[in-house]
Order: sequence, then structure tokens, then C-alpha cells
Amino acid sequence: MDTMIKRIAQVMAVAVVISGGAAAQGLPDGEGKDTFEAVCGACHGADLVIGSQGTKSRWEETVDAMKNRGASASEAEFATVVKYLAKYFGMSVNVNTAAAAELETELELSKAEVEAIVKARTAGKIANFDALSKVQGVNAKALEPLKTRLKY
Ligand code: HEC
Repeated sequence: MDTMIKRIAQVMAVAVVISGGAAAQGLPDGEGKDTFEAVCGACHGADLVIGSQGTKSRWEETVDAMKNRGASASEAEFATVVKYLAKYFGMSVNVNTAAAAELETELELSKAEVEAIVKARTAGKIANFDALSKVQGVNAKALEPLKTRLKY
């Protein structure tokens, strides 16, 4: 009996690890998430997207391919999905080396935020997200869902 209980405990421990991992890798909250789930969730899970990254044109191609596979939505909804994917599953951006213009367009930062980051990184390398969120004038809450794209 003891070994049975031990086994159940082991199985449960594994289950916790797996579900914890999946939760940490969920879909980032942001404009377009609901549309993505409604349009793209019709045939398969978001796991086909989570963990992958691409340029806007790559995501446009993917969405076009899904249209050919039978995805149905309005053009506006497809455009919203592309925008969501390009923003949250876009290419990586190195906070310390990216050009100011790239920070602005890729991460949708204001000019003031970009200036604050450039000033901070000139003074010393920004080590991680924690350090980035402490840069005066940076809206860390808005950057949080983009965390997987940020490199240092
Ligand atoms: C009508 C059904 C359907 C809908 C709706 C759909 N897909 Fe797919 N998708 C598929 C099929 C079928 C595959 C291939 C599945 C496989 O290989 O396991 C696929 C695969 C994918 C892949 C893996 C790479 C590839 O091209 O095979 C990605 C990424 C993807 N879909 C993204 C999306 C996105 C983004 C949307 C929303 C715009 C979407 N899908 C909506 C049917 C659909």
C-alpha cells in the first residue's frame, strides 16, 4: 500500500511540473489575443505558435496558409491576428545593442522610453528584465508580455 501511495505522489508531482511549465508559456495578454484564440483555436491549440518567433511577413504567410487550410474570419480579424503574432511572437530584440529606431518600432515604445533605455545602457549594460523595468520612465507593465523577445 505504501508503494502505491508513493507512486500516486510521484505521478502528481510530475503533473504539477508539466502544468506549471505550460502556464508559464501561455499566450501573452494583449490586443488581439481573443481574436487569435477565436480564429486560430478553431482547429488546433496555441501550442503550434507558442515558442516560435517570426517577422511580420512570416506571420502573414502563416495566416495566409491557414486561410488555405480553411480558417475563416473577416480580413480585419486576420489583420488583428497578424498584428498580435508580430508583436508577441516577433523576432528577438537585444535591449543593449538594438538601434533606437528598432526599439521604437519593434517594441512599440515611445520616443521618451527609447531615450531612457539608450541613456541607461550607455551608462552600463542592462543585465535583465528586472534591470530594464527599473529604468526610469519605462513602462515595465507594457513590456512584460514581450519578455520572451527581449535579449540582453
Ligand atoms: C481550418 C483549420 C485551421 C485553422 C482555423 C487554423 N489552422 Fe493552423 N494549422 C491547421 C492544420 C491542419 C495545420 C497542420 C497541423 C499539423 O501539422 O499538425 C496547422 C498548422 C499550423 C502551424 C504550424 C506550422 C505550419 O504551417 O504547419 C501554425 C504556426 C499555425 N497552424 C498557425 C495558425 C494560426 C496563426 C491560425 C489563425 C489565423 C491558424 N493556424 C488557424 C489548420 C488550421
